[in-house]
Amino acid sequence: MKKVVIDCDPGIDDAMALLMAFASDEIDVLGITAVSGNVPVENTAENALALTELAGQDIEVAAGACKPLSKAPHHAYHVHGDNGLGGVSLPAKGKLSSSTAVELLIDRIKAHPGKIEIIALGPLTNIALLLKDYPEAVEQIKKIIIMGGALKGGNATDFAEFNIYADPHAADIVFTSGVPVDMYGLDATNRVLLSPEEVKGLASMGGKVLTPLAKMLDFYLSFYKSVGYEGLGMHDPFTVACVIDPSLSQMVETAIRVECDDPVTMGQTMMVEDVPACCRAAVEPDSEAFKTLFLDLMKSFL
Ligand code: BDR
Ligand code: CA
Repeated sequence: MKKVVIDCDPGIDDAMALLMAFASDEIDVLGITAVSGNVPVENTAENALALTELAGQDIEVAAGACKPLSKAPHHAYHVHGDNGLGGVSLPAKGKLSSSTAVELLIDRIKAHPGKIEIIALGPLTNIALLLKDYPEAVEQIKKIIIMGGALKGGNATDFAEFNIYADPHAADIVFTSGVPVDMYGLDATNRVLLSPEEVKGLASMGGKVLTPLAKMLDFYLSFYKSVGYEGLGMHDPFTVACVIDPSLSQMVETAIRVECDDPVTMGQTMMVEDVPACCRAAVEPDSEAFKTLFLDLMKSFL
């Protein structure tokens, strides 16, 4: 089993990604850290904790950064709703960790040197702070798997994907840190859509986990319809799926820098040659195989 910590900003697609990770036998989730992103960190942390409880998981959840390194917070209420879960209320009964996100991350890294993979599904603020506070972690983290960026295009702007746009300075620190990075950007994730019929199929399964999930997906679908998509963007779930089964995407080796200065292209992820290539970017997703895996894992909640 891969030992992972998931850093996230739930977020409706983060919620699906967390449920996939909980259900998979390939992944051992040793902790969850929350970051400001789709909604403020108070909500993302509460949502992450509530999702662990909903799925009957006993996993420590720690809150992290409440704002990006050098710019004002940027949220996506129009995509994920005011509470981050499409208005679906999942009150957490338990308590968040007394550790910060960085403390939880470094604890797991030191406990399992060379073994921890960090799956980053939100802006990279917590991970950049970890690397700044504990530079030795660079040698001790096995890999960082990022949902973010794009080799071409964007969704927050024409040039930038949301997670990178929200904290470009943090993203540039992570991409140039020397830790091996797998980037699942929009080139891959925009081609992995769950259709309205598949969402209906999920809703019809019922049960205490899939019923609230299906309500969240209705909200998420209305956003995707409003921007002309034929289905739901499975950005974060596809990223977790590729940790479970790396054959779901082809990868190209590259080095990545992030535009941090130009107000027009801010947050753009650029292929460069002036830093060693320690990144692989996803290019060819196997959408059908992904959906089979996703639906199989969701059925385990029935
Ligand atoms: C990413 O942005 C967020 O809104 C989603 O949760 C996903 O992580 C997609 O660009
Ligand atoms: Ca996310």
